[in-house]
Amino acid sequence: MGSAIWSLLLVVFLQIYIIAATTDAGDSTALKSLAAEWENVPPSWVGGDPCGDGWVGISCTDSRVTSIILPSMNLVGRLSGDISTLSELQQVDLSYNKGLTGSLPASIGNLKNLTNLILVGCGFNGPIPDAIGSLSQLKYLSLNSNGFTGPIPPSIGHLSNLVWLDLADNQLEGPIPVSNGSAPGLDMLIHTKHFHFGKNKLSGQIPAQLFSSHMSLIHLLFESNELTGSLPSTLGLVQTLEVVHFDNNSLNGHLPLNLSSLLNVQDLSLSNNKLTGPLPDLTGMNSLNTLYLSNNSFDLADVPSWFPALQALTTLMMEHTQLQGQVPATFFELPNLQTVVLKGNRLNGTLEIGPSFSNQLKTIDLQYNSITGFNDRGRTYKFDIILVDNPVCTARETTSTYCELPPSNSSPYLTPPSKTCPCSSGQISSPSCGCAYPYTGTLKFRALLFSDFGNLTRYKELEQSLGQFFLSHQLPVDSVSLSYPKRASFEYRLLLDLAVFPSGQKSFNRTGISMIASVFSNQTFKPPKELFGPYVFDGDEYEHFSDEPANSKKSSIAIKIGATAGASVLFLLLVLVGIYAYRQKKRAERATKESNPFAHWDSKKSSGSIPQLKGARCFSFEELKKYTNNFSEANDIGSGGYGKVYRGTLPSGELIAIKRAQQRSMQGGLEFKTEIELLSRVHHKNVVSLLGFCFERGEQMLIYEYVPNGSLSDSLSGKSGIRLDWTRRLKITVGAARGLAYLHELANPPIIHRDIKSTNILLDERLNAKVADFGLSKPMGDSEKGHVTTQVKGTMGYLDPEYYMTQQLTEKSDVYSFGVLMLEIVTARKPIERGKYIVREVRLAMDKTKSLYNLQEILDASIGLAATPKGLEMFVDLAMSCVEESGANRPTMSEVVKEIENIMQLAGMNPNAESASGSATYEEATKGGSLHPYSDDSFAYSGVFPASKIEPQ
Ligand SMILES: *[C@@H]1O[C@H](CO)[C@@H](O)[C@H](O)[C@H]1NC(C)=O
Ligand SMILES: *[C@@H]1O[C@H](CO)[C@@H](O)[C@H](O)[C@H]1NC(C)=O
Repeated sequence: MGSAIWSLLLVVFLQIYIIAATTDAGDSTALKSLAAEWENVPPSWVGGDPCGDGWVGISCTDSRVTSIILPSMNLVGRLSGDISTLSELQQVDLSYNKGLTGSLPASIGNLKNLTNLILVGCGFNGPIPDAIGSLSQLKYLSLNSNGFTGPIPPSIGHLSNLVWLDLADNQLEGPIPVSNGSAPGLDMLIHTKHFHFGKNKLSGQIPAQLFSSHMSLIHLLFESNELTGSLPSTLGLVQTLEVVHFDNNSLNGHLPLNLSSLLNVQDLSLSNNKLTGPLPDLTGMNSLNTLYLSNNSFDLADVPSWFPALQALTTLMMEHTQLQGQVPATFFELPNLQTVVLKGNRLNGTLEIGPSFSNQLKTIDLQYNSITGFNDRGRTYKFDIILVDNPVCTARETTSTYCELPPSNSSPYLTPPSKTCPCSSGQISSPSCGCAYPYTGTLKFRALLFSDFGNLTRYKELEQSLGQFFLSHQLPVDSVSLSYPKRASFEYRLLLDLAVFPSGQKSFNRTGISMIASVFSNQTFKPPKELFGPYVFDGDEYEHFSDEPANSKKSSIAIKIGATAGASVLFLLLVLVGIYAYRQKKRAERATKESNPFAHWDSKKSSGSIPQLKGARCFSFEELKKYTNNFSEANDIGSGGYGKVYRGTLPSGELIAIKRAQQRSMQGGLEFKTEIELLSRVHHKNVVSLLGFCFERGEQMLIYEYVPNGSLSDSLSGKSGIRLDWTRRLKITVGAARGLAYLHELANPPIIHRDIKSTNILLDERLNAKVADFGLSKPMGDSEKGHVTTQVKGTMGYLDPEYYMTQQLTEKSDVYSFGVLMLEIVTARKPIERGKYIVREVRLAMDKTKSLYNLQEILDASIGLAATPKGLEMFVDLAMSCVEESGANRPTMSEVVKEIENIMQLAGMNPNAESASGSATYEEATKGGSLHPYSDDSFAYSGVFPASKIEPQ
């Protein structure tokens, strides 16, 4: 009986519920159909009333769905064609869902009210449907960073309200469409301010018809395409332009003479084309801030006399442009000048820098010219002047500073002042020292109005303006942290990692993430305009939603019952909510406690629950002070961003190396503990062993075995004086490979090194290779067998492109770096030298039908090439298989070891012999030379965030 009444009541409730539903039935069905195609749909997407039930990401007006905003939600699947039935839809933003794939349904053209279609950084592919031209209300169209193929649909020309058009970073091909009779084209878009087409495969000539004085364009970005022909003079008609990029195409012919009528252009980039003829006089371009013209074949009789007229110029890049004559001294007086790169030209005469040069100058790079003198007026300049490979340097014996490449530590890239507070695993310390799960991503700037990257004020200003933006928009943000500039690539002038920390809780809920991510996907946030040009944001997936599936499903069902079943249930619900809130509070308290586990293990009672160490011991500060003669200068054997390295002598006479972190690069106690536990478990003769640590008096030090012969890099560059013949190179290679194979396959837990490079391979007195520096290493837990998704770290030039793109770290990323290292071993070239990438150089030059694969030019002559070193071709083959594009096609490290052993046998060596070729004689040669075996910036103490360690080489 009772149960019958309950069922009856239930039926009544359900009916009330259905009647009460506020969402249009058709819209409701359409959303369910979208959800049916997706994995990881927000847990609040249950029930039949998206508008009434508050589905995350859905907004409605009068029962009709008007927006779908779901960026960075980890959605996976296809976009259902049923989206077309949401006829009142105005905004769609599904950005940063890399799992969204398949083509854009043509039916999307039915969305007559759509103003914003934002699909940045998803996995969509196939052609952009022609029907996109029917979205007559569209203002913002961002399809950048997907896999779209085929042509630019000419129908886009019909979108007369379009303000923002971003199709960059796809696989689009074919010509730039312009109108023709009744056929539409991009020339019709006279209200559009942004043409972003970079990084595609667009080809053909740039139609003169594309540009007219009616246009409103401010950003014209066509870089990294396959465009040919010359730049049409109609470009000079678009007076609104501020940023113009046509670099990395195949443009030829002369530049239009009226270019200088573009008085608002701040950034003009035409590098890497085949442009010829004279440079038009750019006098009058008083906004021109950065001018990139490198690698063209201009016909320049002399250095243009109008250079000193460009009053706003900060950056001039004119490498390899056939520039002749003398740089006028007055040029360096331009008040904002920061960087002048005129490498590889035919500049001659004496370099003069006027007395009132720009106080912003950071670099004047004149390598590879014919400059015969430098009038330094008896001054020392605080900026870099580089005259390497000019007669003024080659003729003289003296080594003036301007005849040496500036040391890499004076590179403008900075390590962030890390302010790390101990946090439990996965959580990250915010600037205000709270531990949380931030929303992260990378800000990629396509243009910059400065080139002096070393001025922290600029990034601080950006950080502040982001913070203020979130505050004034009442977003649930506590603070914002930016990594300082760490890399620049061809496509982007600057990349900055961003972390946004939640306010008042450990993590964001879905609504918070979708609001924050859409700030960037919709470009609502604009960086300070006087410094930063257009940007794209690449949002990471967020894995710590505070409204986890379990909780939110319950609460959303609960709310539904509450809404339909009346006051008594509502009361009950309030009680439940109270209990829930109390529990949450308890949980938060517990989490706060857990976040400082190191409280149990500090310097004072370090003998207590000390870390689980195998074979490493705890040194006291006093002891180490004694062993290093009070950390004397004589024992200082290297330094880097993390601090200094000292040599010490134990009472037994054994030498040790002590890495002492400086205050600002200290890591949290827990990280330090995790690291020494990891390092202490690693024991192999080809891996540098950790002897102990010191965590006392606010110091963090790691004590390693001392490796006397410095790094492989020192020997390859000739710095150490150790000559490496073919057999030595093979021996070093096999040693390094064995060390790495051990880390991958035998260490427990297995370790991915993440920073294999020649400065991290050390050589002992018998030239045995030892893998060093585990600063970036990643142990592989059982739960993450196969790969770890992680923020990309490593060193530019050695970095696995697959890892870089997918952020999925596997052992094969180390194999890639090892392949680069092998190429470095046979060529003695840095992976990226003079803008050339070694992998590409070898791939291009390689001809397997010829002896030594036709690589004589590239190979290091000191191997003794005349004797055709045995197995060298096999060695190159092996290196190239390690740098295969796809990780799956690369060998494992133990396969690499086997193959090198084969090569050694071919070269008449015994791969298992204990090193016969001692290097006692070389120790003499290295005495007094500065060995920096541990002096690498990528040591353990890189802050937790922002800690990307991609450094320019
Ligand atoms: C520098 O080169 C220019 C053009 O090639 C030439 O006319 C001039 O005489 C040279 N000046 C000096 C000092 O060699
Ligand atoms: C650093 O940047 C700030 C703001 O961008 C600027 O005002 C300041 O002059 C710069 N400092 C130097 C030394 O160039």
